[in-house]
Amino acid sequence: MASTSSSPTGGTREPIDAVRVIANRSSGKQGYAIAAEAAARGAEVVLVSTVELPPPAGVEVVAVETAEQVHAAVSAHSAADVVVMAAAVADFRPKQSAPGKLKKQDGPPEIVLEPTPDILAELGAAKRPGQVLVGFAAETEDLVANAASKLATKRLDLIVANDVSAPGVGFGHDTNAVVLLRPAGEPVTVALRDKRAIAAAVLDVVVEIRSAPGGPDN
Ligand code: PMT
Repeated sequence: MASTSSSPTGGTREPIDAVRVIANRSSGKQGYAIAAEAAARGAEVVLVSTVELPPPAGVEVVAVETAEQVHAAVSAHSAADVVVMAAAVADFRPKQSAPGKLKKQDGPPEIVLEPTPDILAELGAAKRPGQVLVGFAAETEDLVANAASKLATKRLDLIVANDVSAPGVGFGHDTNAVVLLRPAGEPVTVALRDKRAIAAAVLDVVVEIRSAPGGPDN
């Protein structure tokens, strides 16, 4: 797999004040497994990460925290041959964050939210010929229908759908179970297994897309 790959992972943390954040349950394990598997296959990998896990051998790690920082880091590597976006990026962030710690005595703060940039949709809109874009979809209902909608609207080559309400699946676990969806063809189910094996299944499809006659856009 001689290619460059950008692999954002982990959950973003959006500041409310100097000590509080809006966060989510992503551990970064799935993204680290993707990065490790891609590097083991010979890819040059940049791992954009909100979490501090031991870096996989040969992988460059870019530490980030917020959706805006993920956006900047991914944009800096937007020319990568393959982008695999396992990160759980906040869809909304506080419009303003207080520079100091909000005081409890002042009562519950009114937090106004604003949308974050949809990083994958932006990459999809600017996708260069031959590039492969892979998204993840974390769903709790209508797994395939919701993932298919994200696949289409973000103009992806592959989406990895996980039902994060199922036992052992998604956030924080060492295991995952996914359905792989492409713009054409039947969904492929990958039953529960460790996240490195899920990474291998995802990258097998990426290799298939890249080696299709005429490349990924055919
Ligand atoms: O980190 P782990 O604990 O190992 O858990 C793995 C996981 C559950 C986080 C992972 O398997 C997963 O599902 N990641 C995607 C989570 C998610 O935010 O899904 P989504 O359906 O909200 O977003 C769809 C896609 O758009 C994702 O690829 C996401 O990275 C991307 N996105 C979302 C919001 C945004 N502002 N910009 C984006 O690019």
